Amino acid sequence: MSDTLFECRNLVKRYGDTTVVDDLSFAIGRGECLGVIGPNGAGKTTTIRMCLGLTAPDGGSITAFGRSMPRDALAIKAQLGVVSQMDTLDPDFDCAENLLVYGRYFGIDSATIRARVPQLLEFAALSHKAGAKPGELSGGMKRRLSLARALVNDPRLLMLDEPTTGLDPQARHLMWERLQLLLQQGKSILLTTHFMDEAERLCSRLLVLDHGRRIAEGRPRELIAQHLEPDVVEVYGQGAVALAQAEGHAALRALAARVEVSGETVFFYTAQALPLLSALSALPHLRTLHRPANLEDLFLKLTGRQIREDG
Ligand SMILES: Nc1ncnc2c1ncn2[C@@H]1O[C@H](COP(=O)(O)OP(=O)(O)O)[C@@H](O)[C@H]1O
Ligand SMILES: [Mg+2]
Repeated sequence: MSDTLFECRNLVKRYGDTTVVDDLSFAIGRGECLGVIGPNGAGKTTTIRMCLGLTAPDGGSITAFGRSMPRDALAIKAQLGVVSQMDTLDPDFDCAENLLVYGRYFGIDSATIRARVPQLLEFAALSHKAGAKPGELSGGMKRRLSLARALVNDPRLLMLDEPTTGLDPQARHLMWERLQLLLQQGKSILLTTHFMDEAERLCSRLLVLDHGRRIAEGRPRELIAQHLEPDVVEVYGQGAVALAQAEGHAALRALAARVEVSGETVFFYTAQALPLLSALSALPHLRTLHRPANLEDLFLKLTGRQIREDG
């Protein structure tokens, strides 16, 4: 791909006996938003850290903008913007100063940064908070300031590690809108997220990671169509779980390609939603929800329903 901005080949990272990134290869094209999704501990942050030269890989290669890591790390980082998973704003500086100081790391001259700061604050919807310190900001404001800071050097590619984790729905929607604007301006983005609606909305392509390995890659809609039946019927309420097990409900289950139980809900993955719903109408005490299969179904199918609290 001649339009490739960034490429990792066969990346490997081990901690002790554990391989946390395992022969991982991916590329990011110009103007593209690549989503990296995977359970906690899948290796998303480690991958980003290797891409930024913060963690040394045990194998593989990283090239960006026609240069290679770690040899050209400085030149590469000059064209990258980063929002790390943990907030790294300077608590002693106000919003404007956080942007100014960060700009100086890139050797941008003072007049240029000073001219850019009001635009960046406006982009982050923080013009009214220019003189406030990070401790006085809400979670959403801090994340937007981190995003504004990542834009100080007018990067071509942004690496955003869970940019909306911990935000309320309003703050998340505002962040999505800003990220869409950046994509429209032609920036490229690598984004990790736990929110499947975010991945589906923003990302042109997804890389699904588990245990450091790529387990799927593709456009969100295509991945869903490739791995799942088109419809899901969720059934819950007293006795719903019996539908997944009891002998008497075998005919019902035969209408689904796959039946799964999670907590007190039974999920029927099916291409025959109407006959299934009609059969379920004989059990009016149960609640049903009929919807198209989505990215969350894909994620759960590929990575399982067990909880991962590592990471
Ligand atoms: N510095 C480290 N030392 C040892 N293990 C680490 C270190 N950093 C990450 N890990 C382990 O590597 C795995 C991947 O972590 P991480 O990349 O943070 O996952 P994710 O961002 O997908 O949640 C986890 O099992 C984590 O505990
Ligand atoms: Mg992480």
